[in-house]
Amino acid sequence: MRSLRTDEGTLSRDYLAAASEVLRELVAMPDLVQRLPLERKAGGYTRNLLAGNDAVSVWAIVWAAGATTCIHDHHCSCCFGVVSGTVTETAYRAIDAKRAVPTEEQERQAGYVACMLPTGPNIHRMRNLGTGDAISIHIYGFDHEAHASSIETQYTAIGG
Ligand SMILES: [Fe+2]
Repeated sequence: MRSLRTDEGTLSRDYLAAASEVLRELVAMPDLVQRLPLERKAGGYTRNLLAGNDAVSVWAIVWAAGATTCIHDHHCSCCFGVVSGTVTETAYRAIDAKRAVPTEEQERQAGYVACMLPTGPNIHRMRNLGTGDAISIHIYGFDHEAHASSIETQYTAIGG
């Protein structure tokens, strides 16, 4: 947590670079993450809080085979890295306040690190289409005691 520079908020370039660096270090140590006592749920995903303060929370998410999120955007910055397995990320474009169309799909494999900002067309869905668990680490710019999750709005898919 010390290396996450939040003094200029969790949208600043410095913060996002620091969060990405922390994630790159973590995805380079999959054995360490896999040894953590992480909660698992057949067919779904579980969020395991690893660390948090009033600005940032760090979670390990275990994606069972078939797990899927809703289609959503975020109220905060969301940096994540894939530790093991593959997470399929589909990007969407909103057509109104509640509906979105898929635009692009990418397989995020172990070692992948990215940051997503709340502003702009940043709507997505994450799924584990593989046959085994996938694990990812997420660093969100939200206080886990003030918000239940990073999700701002849920969308319904139109066409696909
Ligand atoms: Fe997300």
